[in-house]
Amino acid sequence: MSFFWSSWITILSLGCWLFIFGVLVWTLRSRPVLEEDETTGHSYDGIQEYDKPLPKWWLVIFFGTMIWGLGYFILFPSIQPNTWKGVTTVEVDGESVPWTSANELNSQLQANNRVFTENFEQNILENAGASEATVVLAKLNNLQSQRKADEENAELQTQIDEQVKLLAPYVDKLASDPEAQKIGNRLFLQNCALCHGSNARGALGYPDLTDNDWLYGGNADQILLTIHNGRVGSMAAWQQQLGESGVRAAAEYVLQLSGNQNDYELDAAKVAQGKVLFEANCVVCHGPDAKGSTAIGAPNLTDDIWLFGGDRDAVQTSIRHGRAGVMPEWQTKLGNERIMLLAAYVRSLSQTAAE
Ligand code: HEC
Ligand code: HEC
Repeated sequence: MSFFWSSWITILSLGCWLFIFGVLVWTLRSRPVLEEDETTGHSYDGIQEYDKPLPKWWLVIFFGTMIWGLGYFILFPSIQPNTWKGVTTVEVDGESVPWTSANELNSQLQANNRVFTENFEQNILENAGASEATVVLAKLNNLQSQRKADEENAELQTQIDEQVKLLAPYVDKLASDPEAQKIGNRLFLQNCALCHGSNARGALGYPDLTDNDWLYGGNADQILLTIHNGRVGSMAAWQQQLGESGVRAAAEYVLQLSGNQNDYELDAAKVAQGKVLFEANCVVCHGPDAKGSTAIGAPNLTDDIWLFGGDRDAVQTSIRHGRAGVMPEWQTKLGNERIMLLAAYVRSLSQTAAE
């Protein structure tokens, strides 16, 4: 919290407490002078005022709340949080740290995670006959915490990726385990359905994960890496380089490559011009046969499965302005165990489709 808001709250809470305390001291000190009949001499519409002590129960509650308030000041960070951190601690990363709502949340998340990991290793992996995965996971965790401490170290990332790939055979086992599938499905709905749809069939710009057409490859190791590290599709804009007529020609050729499912009347001259442009500019990524490349996520252009739409306008737009679809990374958000379950789920979706 900012200095201003911390001070604001400190003044409000501590100031309020001190104010009430002050009023209390003041009223205890200043006893009113009483008349002979024990009234204060005040008269309101003929009703006279006594000066009787307050009821006990009321005083007990009053002092109780003041002590309670003071207790909170001592237990929790209350006075300009960096000045007084409170005596309450929570455990984060195995260390006792002063209580803050963020630390408390982290602590509970970690406790929850430990239960999940234990259950994952002892039940889910075991039942799927994949308990050896724990060895790989332990090594992976180790590498990842080293990497966390040494973010510049690209060599470590290569080792991590190699280690992630070693999880592939276990993911394949999980992919045919009904219990693991159920958890994978729930994780998918919570984290992935937003973009890929609850049935994983995707939408414009978000790939369908149930077909057998892959940007980055559909083997367990490729899916694992996609989810772990995320992916960024990168297709440059060609308008500058090819000019508008070049863009249109290239699009015409791409439409022909895909089998021209829209039954447009294709302009043969443009198709021929586009073919030349394609061979000069596009094959590096999309391949000489235009079937794409899983290494960089360049889509197959011959299969009439479109990430960004396959009508003439959409194809021209893809080429004219380029495309850059972003799949977020999940390693830091979900951890290796959940990613294994998700990869297994995604893998099973396309396997079912293939049968
Ligand atoms: C913010 C939106 C978003 C979310 C959330 C998201 N994805 Fe993606 N995902 C994408 C995009 C966009 C791509 C395509 C990237 C590209 O165009 O290169 C993609 C690609 C993929 C691919 C590669 C598909 C292929 O054909 O190779 C897989 C697998 C995948 N996502 C799985 C997941 C899983 C599992 C989750 C949940 C943990 C998830 N995604 C969450 C946007 C998202
Ligand atoms: C640097 C590599 C690269 C080059 C060169 C390249 N592309 Fe692409 N292209 C990609 C990638 C990667 C994507 C997917 C982008 C994404 O996922 O966001 C893509 C997407 C496309 C799409 C959209 C496909 C769909 O399914 O919606 C079309 C069409 C396309 N490229 C045509 C071309 C043409 C025509 C050229 C040559 C003028 C070309 N590309 C050159 C990498 C490249």
